Order: sequence, then C-alpha cells, then structure tokens
Amino acid sequence: MIIVIDGPSGSGKSTLAKMLSKQLNIPYFDTGAMYRSFCWFLINREVSLDDQEKIKQLLNEMKFEIQTIGNEQHYIVNGTDISMKIRNEEVTRNVSKVSAYLFVREYLVSIQRKLGESRSGIFEGRDMGTVVFPNADIKFFLFADPNIRAVRRFEQMKANFPLKKFEKDRVLKELLKRDEYDSTREHSPLKQAGDAISIDVSCLDVNQVFEKLKAHIDEKKL
Ligand code: DC
Repeated sequence: MIIVIDGPSGSGKSTLAKMLSKQLNIPYFDTGAMYRSFCWFLINREVSLDDQEKIKQLLNEMKFEIQTIGNEQHYIVNGTDISMKIRNEEVTRNVSKVSAYLFVREYLVSIQRKLGESRSGIFEGRDMGTVVFPNADIKFFLFADPNIRAVRRFEQMKANFPLKKFEKDRVLKELLKRDEYDSTREHSPLKQAGDAISIDVSCLDVNQVFEKLKAHIDEKKL
C-alpha cells in the first residue's frame, strides 16, 4: 500500500506521515529530507549551487542511507548522521534551487521509487502523487494559509535550534519565496494530483487532520 501526502512547507505533512506510520505500522519517507541531504552535502563540499556540471559529478559521490531509530528516520550521508544539520537555515534557504535541477530529481526519484517497490510506505513531499507514485493507493494534498504555516515553521525551528534567534516575519518571507520557487519550477512543480483528496488544514489541529486522513484510508478499505 502506498499513501502519498503532498503540500507546501509547513502544512504538517511530516508530522502526519509519522502519526500514520505509527498507527498503520508501515514506514514513512520524508522526501524533502532527501533533497535537503543533497543540498547539505553540496554546501559542505563548498560547491557553487549554480555549477551544474560539478553538482552532477558529486551526485555519484553521495552515499545516502536512511536508518530508522524508534519512530524517527535518520539521514546518513557518507557515514555521518546529518538529520539535524539538514534543518538549518542555510540548507532551508538553498534547497529549492538544488531540487529544481532535473538530474537531481531523477536521481532522488529513482531512490524513492525503489523504496516503495517492495513494501508499503507513506511518502510525503511535493510531487509524490503527480510524478513519483501516480498509481498510489490514496493521495492527500494538504494546504493552509501561509501565515499559519509560517507560525508552525517558526515554532519548529525554535524547537530544533533552541539557542538560535528567529524572526517570524523572515520565516514567512522565506516560506513564500520557497512556495513560489517550488510551484513554478519547470520540473515536477508542487501541484495537486487530479485524484488527490485535498484538505485545508488552516483551522484544524494535527489530531483533527489525522482523524480525517484516517477516515479516508478506512473508507478505502486498503
Ligand atoms: O518538505 P521540505 O520543506 O523539507 O522540502 C525541502 C525542499 O525540497 C522544498 O523546498 C522542495 C523540495 N522538495 C521537492 O522538490 N520535492 C519533494 N518531493 C520534496 C521536497
């Protein structure tokens, strides 16, 4: 069984994928974390993010693994656990650019499809329902008012990096910029699949969204 959850940043996809994973006892995959991991790897190698030739070469030098510890996924690049590092501001600011390159997408999409080949999974991202798993058993598209999403992102960032200072307005500005970039790029833009169930989560708490998703899954008798 393949369940996909797409939507813009801050719409709660990761939290819900984790909750469903626990409830249904099947793994979840945060595909944004894969784009973030590659972006972190390039920044760490001090590569210009405009240098497509160099980036292409480095794609084959990144050994990427996912380890599940408890109910959490850990992202390991060339032996180093970078699960927290990929959430930093520099990666967040630059990941849209890296994820817009077609060759980067093709590489990561092939990994994502392999992960879904022989097992059930909950995949969350931007193009899961449109490109990666067009035949998924059930597709969700979550969306919410950008101001609400920015507040959620702001709270997440404070929780992840308690010693750093963040400004809400800046988080909103960057989120809008990323939305624009992700939904207007040439390859696999953020878009709702025609057969996805769309849910406006602006006025719902995470448990209410979970109940809605669960009801749709139960109804399908998957
Ligand atoms: O979900 P996130 O904010 O961690 O995603 C990071 C970036 O990766 C986001 O700017 C868009 C990109 N992304 C993508 O292009 N395709 C996906 N399936 C998932 C994320």
